[in-house]
Amino acid sequence: MPPMHVAIIMDGNGRWAEGRGKERFEGHLQGVESVRTAIKSAQKFGVRYLTLYAFSTENWGRPAEEVEALMDLFCTCVVNETPELIAEGVRVRIIGDKEGLSTEVRMHLDKIERDTEGGETLTLLLALNYSSREEITRAARLWNAHPDTTFEAHLYTNGIPDPDLVIRTSGEQRLSNFLLWQAAYAEFYFTPVLWPDFGEAEFKTALDAYASRDRRYGKITNQ
Ligand code: FPP
Repeated sequence: MPPMHVAIIMDGNGRWAEGRGKERFEGHLQGVESVRTAIKSAQKFGVRYLTLYAFSTENWGRPAEEVEALMDLFCTCVVNETPELIAEGVRVRIIGDKEGLSTEVRMHLDKIERDTEGGETLTLLLALNYSSREEITRAARLWNAHPDTTFEAHLYTNGIPDPDLVIRTSGEQRLSNFLLWQAAYAEFYFTPVLWPDFGEAEFKTALDAYASRDRRYGKITNQ
């Protein structure tokens, strides 16, 4: 059985560009190609939920021109890719603090969520201005105000099954404030491959590694 939900920390765009003597932004541009491939691969291999970590709250600390270029890239992608996402049956949902984004970016994100609402083959969660600690403390505040509800109902991922597999590219082995609550029982797959080089074959290798894992959820095998 393929994992129902795969979450990816797309890392290594900058190093990919620097290794080729290019501007860091070129790496992000190439990263968009890998995003397209990941969406197609997820659909091909039967994954139903794909979460991509696109921008963390910590990423605001990068040089202003890189942040601005990334925000522009998100807007352009959202506009350019919407028709194909609709045609492929992909539903887009944003997780993260939208209020902290500019009005223009927020408008594009609201639009893609509305336009792809009917998608039923794959749910694509884009983590933008996302911080797992912010998500958890926000949920705690809301839960406190509505004690008759569940805690999870107040997470950005409300209604989405927990990730089964978390992939991180570029050789780093940490979660970086990503899905801390949701990944409690996830399997982890780390690869030295940089995100712009992460294609269908690498996606399949990660799924094969997942398939060989024994998920016991604190119990014993075959219990
Ligand atoms: C991490 O690589 C990547 C990012 C912070 C940006 C991710 C954005 C994209 C892949 C572009 C498009 C995304 C969407 C959803 C349209 P890094 O810059 O930290 O690389 P480094 O560690 O080598 O410097």
